[in-house]
Amino acid sequence: MQITIPYSPRPLQQDIHTQLSKHRWAVLSIHRRAGKSVLCINELIKRALTNDKWNPRYAYIGPTYKQTKSIIFDYLKFYAGVIPGSKFNEQELSCTLPNGAKISLLGSENPDSLRGNYYDGIICDEYAQINPRLFPEIIRPALSDRKGFCYFVGTPQGMSNDFYNKYQHGLKDKTWYTKIAKASETGIVDQEELDAALELMGKNKYRQEFECDWVAALEGAIYGDIVEKIENKGQVGRVPYDPTYPVSTAWDIGISDKTVILFFQQVGRAVQIIDYYENSNEGLPHYINVINGKDYVYKNHYGPHDLEQREFTNGKSRREIAYELGLRFKIVPKLSIEDGIHYTQLLLNRCWLDVDTCKKLIDALRNYHRKFNDTLQVFNMKPVHDWSSHACDSLRCLAVGLEELRDDKEITQRIADNNYNPLGMNHEQNF
Ligand SMILES: Nc1ncnc2c1ncn2[C@@H]1O[C@H](COP(=O)(O)OP(=O)(O)O)[C@@H](O)[C@H]1O
Ligand SMILES: [Mg+2]
Repeated sequence: MQITIPYSPRPLQQDIHTQLSKHRWAVLSIHRRAGKSVLCINELIKRALTNDKWNPRYAYIGPTYKQTKSIIFDYLKFYAGVIPGSKFNEQELSCTLPNGAKISLLGSENPDSLRGNYYDGIICDEYAQINPRLFPEIIRPALSDRKGFCYFVGTPQGMSNDFYNKYQHGLKDKTWYTKIAKASETGIVDQEELDAALELMGKNKYRQEFECDWVAALEGAIYGDIVEKIENKGQVGRVPYDPTYPVSTAWDIGISDKTVILFFQQVGRAVQIIDYYENSNEGLPHYINVINGKDYVYKNHYGPHDLEQREFTNGKSRREIAYELGLRFKIVPKLSIEDGIHYTQLLLNRCWLDVDTCKKLIDALRNYHRKFNDTLQVFNMKPVHDWSSHACDSLRCLAVGLEELRDDKEITQRIADNNYNPLGMNHEQNF
């Protein structure tokens, strides 16, 4: 029987439907008003109608039940309503098709109805607003029986949510399909409308919603503008190791957290960050091995003041342990975080960053932000502590270190970085 659904996919939608039919996992980051939700519903209808297994089940998950009911259920009724024998349940927000396949619409705030069910496929719309625990705890297990698909759809909302994580995963995993569709490329929304939106929303919000920019609208971003500026000046690109200059490192040390090491070269006034390393739950010997494993000729190693903290186990500071392992840290003085950020902002202007090796640092610099305090109507002074803090702290260590430990600056370092000998033993021969 021939059924005509009142849907003529736009070229972008057609292209995506074709790809989705070949992929079990997908991330679609698509600009506002491009037709994402319409695409999701029609994909589910097509897959449900053409599935000849017993009782196929599909689900659409939106951020809230209310929004799903008011917009998406109308789409479902409009597109599936023409199929003879389709039945709609207003209470459940579901549709049963003549082949017995059922499509359920759910809000992510009450996902329990998903538990214990099998699904042939699930689409999460506006995924940036959906609780990240939903996928591993409920959605993934529900897809196991039938090897069902899951597609993550939305517009970016910064990098501190699972939509960004899934997108990053999708880029690396060749079995996933990832698609970014920007308004400037699709031509779906006309220029007059885009200009009006830009005027109303401001540049950052516009870039997030219509240009699918992961970082643009991050409120309170601390380094975002400078990273964009130096990127436009060509300072983010290939920055290869120059063997005619020594390499220095700058660290952020985490005990139960991440440790980050930046590798940089000073060429005149320019600071070229050529390499990046991060790991967690490893001791100092591991990191010193990493440093020694590189082919660089080293100059200075800048470490944060907390290297002076003593370990409970042996009473030695980590700086002393590093020293015994052959690494002499220059301890960067403790400044207020405000002053540190100020130095980092100044430093960034003369930084060159390698886009491949330092990708994590660049992402972190874009993300690092202060949270807006609604009660006080100001941004909190202290930046949000999240995945981006450690990389940014290592750059702060670099900036403060270069500034405060300048050769021409009179410094009062609390502990000399030369042969400090806390145990009264002679370590001279070790170095
Ligand atoms: N293939 C299509 N043909 C005609 N109109 C469409 C099509 N796809 C979407 N639309 C319309 O475009 C508008 C935006 O669609 P929607 O799916 O809600 O966008 P998004 O979820 O990307 O913001 C809606 O009015 C919708 O009806
Ligand atoms: Mg939508």
